[in-house]
Amino acid sequence: MADRKATLTVDGLEKPIELPVYSGTAGPDVIDVRGLGAEGLFTFDPGFMATSSCESAITYIDGGKGVLLHRGYPIEQLAEHSNFVEMSYMLLFGELPTEAQYKDFEARVRTHTMVHEQLANFFKGFRRDAHPMSILCGVVGGLAAFYHDHLDITKQEDREISAIRLIAKMPTIAAMSHKYNIGQPFNYPRNDLNYAENFLYMMFSNPCEPYEINPVYAKAMDRIFMLHADHEQNASTSTVRLAGSTGANPFACISSGIAALWGPAHGGANEAVLNMLDEIGDDSEDNIQRFIDRAKDKDDPFKLMGFGHRVYRNFDPRAKVMKETCDEVLAELGLGDDPQLKIAKRLEQIALEDEYFIERKLYPNVDFYSGIILKAMGIPTNMFTVIFAVSRTIGWISHWNEMISESYKIGRPRQMYIGHTQRDYPAE
Ligand code: CMC
Repeated sequence: MADRKATLTVDGLEKPIELPVYSGTAGPDVIDVRGLGAEGLFTFDPGFMATSSCESAITYIDGGKGVLLHRGYPIEQLAEHSNFVEMSYMLLFGELPTEAQYKDFEARVRTHTMVHEQLANFFKGFRRDAHPMSILCGVVGGLAAFYHDHLDITKQEDREISAIRLIAKMPTIAAMSHKYNIGQPFNYPRNDLNYAENFLYMMFSNPCEPYEINPVYAKAMDRIFMLHADHEQNASTSTVRLAGSTGANPFACISSGIAALWGPAHGGANEAVLNMLDEIGDDSEDNIQRFIDRAKDKDDPFKLMGFGHRVYRNFDPRAKVMKETCDEVLAELGLGDDPQLKIAKRLEQIALEDEYFIERKLYPNVDFYSGIILKAMGIPTNMFTVIFAVSRTIGWISHWNEMISESYKIGRPRQMYIGHTQRDYPAE
């Protein structure tokens, strides 16, 4: 209930409008503007700079302080003590699982990893050089065709099994999109492996050679999954909610999230970081400075990919944890002298010292480091955003489930119309 009111005075209106003000458990208070429509007014907030689109109890971010909490737990603590599957349970159901609940959930995820054999045929419709993100958008949307019997979104049981299927099958589909790309046979999942190990196995194993899973890589992979699992109402999550608000099935909704994630300003940034390092190429001081100058030049569209964030205006807490993992992986591989990594380190240093970046609070974000780790582990650049999508699926489906579990309305924004007013079609 609103315990406070905001009063809006608008030139030309007879009397001020009173709007309820609500407080969440943390974060800025919100002004409920829903009544404005009846007064013939809309709010105007392109880019959603100050708009709460929903109530949510899943994730909290304080961008100024660099705080990220999932169900109240700080990301740093989760990264240290939890794992991706446990975190998935918590995001979906609200609490950390008991031992028995964890065992049951983990077993359900583990035994739903295989995809219908017919699904493998979908891949053949794509060119071999198709970007794995385009394959992922299509194939995940197509999953709905296999589960007609469990698509009643009003039933909790159906929503739950769809969530489990999605979490379990995303690594399989992701790895298949890579194998298709490089012309190798698909690997069936191995359910004796844990989530991260299984993904690495399906990505890198081939029938001709034994594949040993490096535990440092498996730990790094699980961390990458955890650090990308959810991030409240970002562009792709909002896309999933909007699609879901029409009553669309969960597989179609997740496919829409994958499409939104693909953009370089969002999940595509990890791939863009590596493309940028390639473009910079030469690790000489003069050349790196030239690119820093380009990033600062308003007339040049070039941006330092992996720097800046809409919400974090101080530091990205995920980047801090990711940087530690990055150092661990690079130490394991003895890659200190890699020229591309040298460029990355130099960019990080210059950006942290340069007035332009300091003034605008542009710090390296999670994708700056995740891109470097994935590259070091031998994951091809075009798979980086796919891996982000595998991780974020649990966030998307948790938000979708949260929305569908409560009463909700179709998402239907309005606009400030600036086109022609009515005019007559020219007479002959
Ligand atoms: N390089 C150079 N200048 C930048 C950058 C950058 N990466 N990011 C922002 N700026 C400048 C921008 O030009 C503007 O300058 P001015 O005030 O002089 O006009 C100022 O900083 C504020 O930027 P903005 O564009 O208003 O900020 P935004 O909140 O709209 O955009 C962003 C945030 C993440 C889209 C943007 O920082 C960006 O494009 N970064 C590079 C892409 C990237 O790394 N994205 C991944 C985000 S983390 C993963 C995820 O959660 O999806």
